Amino acid sequence: MFGVLRLIKDFITYDADREFYAKVFPDSVSKVDLMRLRKMRKADLARVLEIENTNYEFPWSEDIFIDCFTPLSYSCWVCEDTEKVIAYAVLSIGAGEAHILNISVDPQAQGLGVGRKIMEHLIEVARKKAETMFLEVRPSNAKAQSLYESLGFNEIGVRKGYYPAANNSREDAIMLALELSTVF
Ligand SMILES: CC(C)(COP(=O)(O)OP(=O)(O)OC[C@H]1O[C@@H](n2cnc3c(N)ncnc32)[C@H](O)[C@@H]1OP(=O)(O)O)[C@@H](O)C(=O)NCCC(=O)NCCS
Repeated sequence: MFGVLRLIKDFITYDADREFYAKVFPDSVSKVDLMRLRKMRKADLARVLEIENTNYEFPWSEDIFIDCFTPLSYSCWVCEDTEKVIAYAVLSIGAGEAHILNISVDPQAQGLGVGRKIMEHLIEVARKKAETMFLEVRPSNAKAQSLYESLGFNEIGVRKGYYPAANNSREDAIMLALELSTVF
């Protein structure tokens, strides 16, 4: 009961602070500080799909996202600024392993630290339930690789022809892992 009340209070207080500082001292807080992470809801799907379709040549369908609304197996998050959802991520956790299945930032908001903020949040979420975090990345995706390496992920292998690619071809996936006990 108290836990629920605290969550509601934190939500209201945080939003009040955010609105206050954004309006009164617009230069005193960074854009990333004004962003908030929360659980994804079905009402977010239209906006999530808009970003998904912009970012990926082979995007997830709505049905795939809906399948991920299974709280015991998946953890789905959005990051929003003061106006709208600007990024999202999907994490699966089971048998001591966490797997980042999707992370995607609105192109207009890329390069501002949003991807890093989400990754750090996912690592915090995963640490409570898993020992190792895994993800796959295309060799052509230098930006994402740089982010993951800076967070301590190491290459553990290659999945041949894992991703669909242009002209009916396939692209390999680099498999990365992070030992969560080594993260401070
Ligand atoms: C990959 C992605 C999630 C990164 O999110 P982002 O918000 O743009 O990244 P951030 O601003 O938090 O930057 C984090 C790190 O990413 C790397 N990075 C960001 N922009 C970069 C660029 N233009 N070139 C090279 N590296 C870059 C850097 O290592 C950066 O760390 P730094 O700021 O300390 O230098 C985002 O670009 C994205 O959504 N891309 C399209 C979807 C996608 O590829 N998802 C990943 C699938 S595996």
